[in-house]
Amino acid sequence: MKHFLDLEDINNIDTLISEAISLKSNPFSSKKLGENKTIGLLFFNSSLRTRLSTQKAAQNLGMDVITMNLNSDSWGLEFEDGSVMNAGTAEHIKEAAAVISQYVDIIALRAFPSLTDKVKDEEEQVIKSFQKYASVPVVNMESATAHPLQALTDAITITEFKQKKRPKVVLSWAPHPRALPHAVPNSFAKMMQMIDVDFCITHPEGYELNPKITGNAPIVYNQEEALKNADFVYAKNWSSYKDYGQIKCTDESWMLTLDKIKTAKFMHCLPVRRNVVVADEVLDSNQSIVIQQANNRTYAAQAVLKEILKNVA
Ligand code: CP
Repeated sequence: MKHFLDLEDINNIDTLISEAISLKSNPFSSKKLGENKTIGLLFFNSSLRTRLSTQKAAQNLGMDVITMNLNSDSWGLEFEDGSVMNAGTAEHIKEAAAVISQYVDIIALRAFPSLTDKVKDEEEQVIKSFQKYASVPVVNMESATAHPLQALTDAITITEFKQKKRPKVVLSWAPHPRALPHAVPNSFAKMMQMIDVDFCITHPEGYELNPKITGNAPIVYNQEEALKNADFVYAKNWSSYKDYGQIKCTDESWMLTLDKIKTAKFMHCLPVRRNVVVADEVLDSNQSIVIQQANNRTYAAQAVLKEILKNVA
């Protein structure tokens, strides 16, 4: 693996899931691999899990870690080619990415979408520019349209908890007071089509995700119908893709409750708004596996970094 920008960078998903589960029981087995190597964790947006678990993963592999919040701690970055930089931005990505590449062996980056410019967001300008101008591998820690480390985590978690060969997995939209990106549901939907599960998506009409990503996954507009016989329920809010970035529905009845999920395991990428997205009774029950899921962020990141380190001189 050279870069980890999206799930297409995974050669063999079953092997990578097995590797992550194996690292979980023996996290320091490859400590020599990252010796004298440094990862730079660069954030344009807030994070709890991604920041700490990726740092932990890198340290488990023997790497040093440098972290920077780019928006608050660094110069404003310019991404447009040929721009006259006489306004807010002080440094061009061409210099920034080249310079950072001299300090670190891997760049990991978080850059959320604007949710106002669909075309620009789908171009993935920030992460693609880093890939273009950096001379070291780039890892996606959630970009405008994808959160592949989260999706790998989710696949690991389902593999660990499943009670049958081909469990039923439902991705359910849930209410939220703010307009949220599509990265997590996009990557989850893509991942569920890479592993052996019976997958469907439920959301109010008008919340269809990018059809190029959801592919042939069934969409069931009736949440109760979709949740029937579910083994795993994955709740997530996202804003409208069609009316890009808008909140079209605030229907509180889409909140996940125990009555709705029945005996299914409950998953969410976190952070989650209690009693808006999901009721306390679910998160506080033993059907919720969100804490175990978050723990797997470390081993997902570690499996990916290990693959990349094999190709770093
Ligand atoms: N799930 C996730 O990416 O969490 P953070 O935003 O806290 O990193």
